[in-house]
Amino acid sequence: MQSRDTFYITTPIYYPSDKLHIGHTYCTVATDTIARYKRMCGYDVMFLTGTDEHGQKIEEKAIEAGVSPKEFVDGIVEGTKGIKDLWQLMNISNDRFIRTTDDYHVKAVQRIFKKMYDNGDIYKGKYAGMYCKPCESFWTENQLKEGNCPDCGRSVQYYEEEAYFFRLSKYADKIRELLLGGEFLEPASRVNEMIKNFIDPGLEDLCVSRTSFTWGVPVDFDEGHVVYVWVDALFNYMTALGYQNEDRDGYEKYWPADVHMVGKEIVRFHSIIWPAMLMSVGEQVPKKVYGHGWLLLGGGKMSKSKGNVVDPYILAERFGVDALRYFLMREFPLGSDGNYSNELLILRINSDLANDLGNLLSRTVAMVIKYFGGTLPEERKFEEIDLEVINPASTLRDKYKELMDSYHTQDALILVLKHISRANKYIDETSPWVLAKSEENNPRLASVLYNLLETLRICLSLLRPFIPDSCEKAFEQIGAKPSELTWDNLGVWGILDAKVSVRKGDTLFPRIDVQKELIELEKFAESMRQEAAPEIITEPYTEEFVEFETFLKSDYRAVKVISCEKVKKSDKLLKFTLDDGTGNPRQILSGIAKFYSPESLVGKTLLAIVNLPPRKMMGTESNGMLISAVHSENGEEKLNLIIVDDKIPAGAKLC
Ligand code: ME8
Repeated sequence: MQSRDTFYITTPIYYPSDKLHIGHTYCTVATDTIARYKRMCGYDVMFLTGTDEHGQKIEEKAIEAGVSPKEFVDGIVEGTKGIKDLWQLMNISNDRFIRTTDDYHVKAVQRIFKKMYDNGDIYKGKYAGMYCKPCESFWTENQLKEGNCPDCGRSVQYYEEEAYFFRLSKYADKIRELLLGGEFLEPASRVNEMIKNFIDPGLEDLCVSRTSFTWGVPVDFDEGHVVYVWVDALFNYMTALGYQNEDRDGYEKYWPADVHMVGKEIVRFHSIIWPAMLMSVGEQVPKKVYGHGWLLLGGGKMSKSKGNVVDPYILAERFGVDALRYFLMREFPLGSDGNYSNELLILRINSDLANDLGNLLSRTVAMVIKYFGGTLPEERKFEEIDLEVINPASTLRDKYKELMDSYHTQDALILVLKHISRANKYIDETSPWVLAKSEENNPRLASVLYNLLETLRICLSLLRPFIPDSCEKAFEQIGAKPSELTWDNLGVWGILDAKVSVRKGDTLFPRIDVQKELIELEKFAESMRQEAAPEIITEPYTEEFVEFETFLKSDYRAVKVISCEKVKKSDKLLKFTLDDGTGNPRQILSGIAKFYSPESLVGKTLLAIVNLPPRKMMGTESNGMLISAVHSENGEEKLNLIIVDDKIPAGAKLC
């Protein structure tokens, strides 16, 4: 490999709408690990992260907080324990940080939008359809899942506005080809998802401007429109390198990106919309999009409003940054979802870091100090068993490289840790404490200890992208010099000085008291749950007036439930027999079986509109409609029948 080949890697740019949680940390730590690994291999790496600061969601949060949107995002991005602070804490080695409110980015996005307008790929039309505010995503009816956003499961809202559209449909064939090419999108399972869910049903043109709010990049040739936040956001990967601006540089050198690391729910934007827009502006598409899995909690997605987020600050403070980084990369395969638990975290730290790695390091260093005063003598005595650690160590680097290059980061860690376990076993097999009983055995004892130090040099180096600080400290303890840790030297055995000197250091990963920590962490989780206010979403208001005369025509009455039962063969419908004050029982069907048991409603006085035309459902007639209040709470649909005071007689008119 040429020593200065480039490697451009990015994380998604984060929404500064809430405090980031361990799931966000997962994504950035994974990217950082790959970036560090590539640097270690000798690449000239450009690692970009940043924040995605525009959009309706941010505007609304700022209004809620009583500050301007810019003040709001500044606080979350730059403030104490904000996004930049978190990346510093987690030892993220990004080379650049972009904020989409940066002036150069805003101007560049305006130029890009105009370019696509001028070449005919953006045109003006009218948008009418569904929008998920938390995801800032447009959806067609058939993409919705049970009427809700297919990504986050929350309710969507109907929007109708004049808007610009991007001719996404024009690029459908080229995108299919790109996806099926085999290299562009990984893991391969994501390709099938994209083809089946989006390409096969037919790509529709994408709405790329909004007029109902102002917090975005203004379309400079049409006042009142702001650029759709995803168009603004995706181009960050290029504007941060100076594309369409003079403030930044590196576009020629680093584009196209070698890999965009993204969570699975935003693969669609990165593997369909993004390449289509790049084709439109005549630029190269990225070499790869890698869609990693989600970190789940209790089997569900983490969400601050549900109070089930895990705070990386708390974990890093209690267990150390590297322990947390290690856990995230070791516990879950990068491409799949994984279920987070405090117990898994602690057990993993104890078994791999405190026991396996920590023991190998502390025992080896302690023995070199105890038996040789800290410096090994030069004389050696080889035995056959040494090959058990020497042979696999010589091929370790290349096997690791293969796994890391294909994003099998978990397997790479398993490989290294397996070798560390082997070395611990080698200590027991060679019993240095027995050898130490006679000076005659010194050459043999020195060989055993040297083999252990060499094993540590190689294994720690390969762990370095994952747990950088701990490895630096460990290198000092085993007396390894930077020149002995180059990529080339990791493939060679016997690099450490024959008369190497070690130094005692602090225990890198102290053993954690599992029960005690679990109790402490549960206290934090409980207080977070208590703090979390449920996220309530109600239907948008209708702007159109209804004529008073028309309103008066609706006949609302109090009705008392005489009996209520489930409609056979229907999961949804309840059949009510109601006293409406006329003396003749009234039958109404209502699709609320998922919210109420029939028995619980008997005897209750409800509200109904009674002059709707009769309607048949599942072959049964319904004469009117019961009135209920609906909203969504933490993404879950809620329905409450309007139950009125028993003093109100059946038949009383609502006016
Ligand atoms: O999507 N597990 O920003 P974001 C794993 N602004 N990854 C998770 C996660 C979890 N529990 N929760 C979030 C956006 N993430 C856009 C990106 S890029 C041009 C614009 C990941 O702050 C998520 O999958 O909502 C995504 O990759 C990243 O955090 C940022 O999410």
